[in-house]
Amino acid sequence: MMTFQGSHILSVSQFDRDAISRILDVSAQMAPYAARQKRCHVLDGAILNSLFFEPSTRTRVSFGTAFNLLGGFVRETVGEENSSLSKGESLYDTAQVISGYSDVITMRHPQMHSVAEFAKGSNVPVINGGDGANEHPTQALLDLFTIKSEMAPYQKGLDGLNIVLMGDLKHGRTVHSLSKLLSLYDNVKVTMISPKALQMPTNVVDTLVNAGHQVEITDTIEDNLACDVIYQTRIQQERFASQDEADLYRGHFSLNRHVYQQYCKNHTVIMHPLPRDSRPEANELDTDLNDLDNLAIFRQAQNGVLVRMALFALTLGVEDKLTQYEKPITWYSNKY
Ligand code: NCD
Repeated sequence: MMTFQGSHILSVSQFDRDAISRILDVSAQMAPYAARQKRCHVLDGAILNSLFFEPSTRTRVSFGTAFNLLGGFVRETVGEENSSLSKGESLYDTAQVISGYSDVITMRHPQMHSVAEFAKGSNVPVINGGDGANEHPTQALLDLFTIKSEMAPYQKGLDGLNIVLMGDLKHGRTVHSLSKLLSLYDNVKVTMISPKALQMPTNVVDTLVNAGHQVEITDTIEDNLACDVIYQTRIQQERFASQDEADLYRGHFSLNRHVYQQYCKNHTVIMHPLPRDSRPEANELDTDLNDLDNLAIFRQAQNGVLVRMALFALTLGVEDKLTQYEKPITWYSNKY
């Protein structure tokens, strides 16, 4: 079993099935705190430095919220232009300095493998919030948590899952990390729907195939959506050489109520890491699906808080002390 305390979280490849099940169990223990039934102040006085050098809403804010929910303080740096990286400072030097100010660091950066490079200079745990088109490990963990909880009412789990990944599979780091994690389970069927030019990188496909899973690669939606979970993604326009090139693919694989009714199963669950591009020319996930019970996207984003709380508790070694540091909630809350 891997030791979490003091470890960086850089790639999903560092986890085995036991480690993941530990993360998912600790995440579930965080539910009463996130739902404001009680407080937990086990990280009282600890400092998170959150360094986000690419746009982010959910990842950045849920990391911060998660840390606050455990009683810790959060300091944020947003945008490379607001950091000395823009003066030519190396990731190593920045890491040496910021880790001296912190107990744990979360980081997002546009370059692949940059967060791992930063971590070499840090003497506190660094958690990867997305490194370019490479990986987004915490998203994949919250995706697994979501799949598990959404499948539970149907007596299904991660083993035997039939999932469709759709959209920009070439540049989408969330589907890279999720596929690698799914390869650890048994008998998974993954259908990858994308334009030919935006197919899943071969090394990610190989991870699934080598683990004995069934992988279908296609560029058509028709007759390919009868699955347990559809994981839709956004065209990652910021990773293309030009906007014109990205625009070629916008709106190709829109999922709307009509498509859902025509091709999905009764209970197919819809996921998306978000943000969905709601501009009419993209519209990959139509708002006409908003009142569908099986649209899990906002529950999925909410689960991000639980999983990130768990990762802080585990990397800072307090996961067994949660209940010793509880307090009642004194204010009005409509969350439970
Ligand atoms: C994703 C990302 O940044 O990789 N967003 C997220 O963290 N939930 C997906 C995206 O931007 O399309």
